[in-house]
Amino acid sequence: MIRLLYFSTARASLTTSDVADIVEFSQKNNAERDITGALAFNGRNFCQLLEGEETVVRDLVTAIEKDPRHSGFKIIDEKKVDGRYFADWSMLLVNELDFSKVINAMHA
Ligand SMILES: Cc1cc2nc3c(=O)[nH]c(=O)nc-3n(C[C@H](O)[C@H](O)[C@H](O)COP(=O)(O)O)c2cc1C
Repeated sequence: MIRLLYFSTARASLTTSDVADIVEFSQKNNAERDITGALAFNGRNFCQLLEGEETVVRDLVTAIEKDPRHSGFKIIDEKKVDGRYFADWSMLLVNELDFSKVINAMHA
């Protein structure tokens, strides 16, 4: 299993309702793929943590990177893990200016 963290920049026209749509879709899709994690949005940038089986996470990351709703996609860190930090969340939305909750989870 791996845990991966990336940053990106939301398309300028993206609204909070668009972000809610992304999260709603992701919660369903991730649950089907046994992926957990958190998406932080500060009004401009995304910081997302994903955890799950390596091939499944990498396939999802490939799809997310191509998504036109954001740009400047950059993987910040990734590592193999034995357990999940966001075990109860297929995708937790963190609406905070401060990304530290998600970044700290990467290093937990
Ligand atoms: C910031 C951001 C985060 C996303 N996170 C996820 C996610 O965790 N799970 C997911 O299934 N899709 C996520 N998506 C949506 C994917 O980019 C993509 O639209 C979705 O997987 C459907 O892809 P498909 O049409 O190729 O099947 C995210 C999109 C953005 C812009």
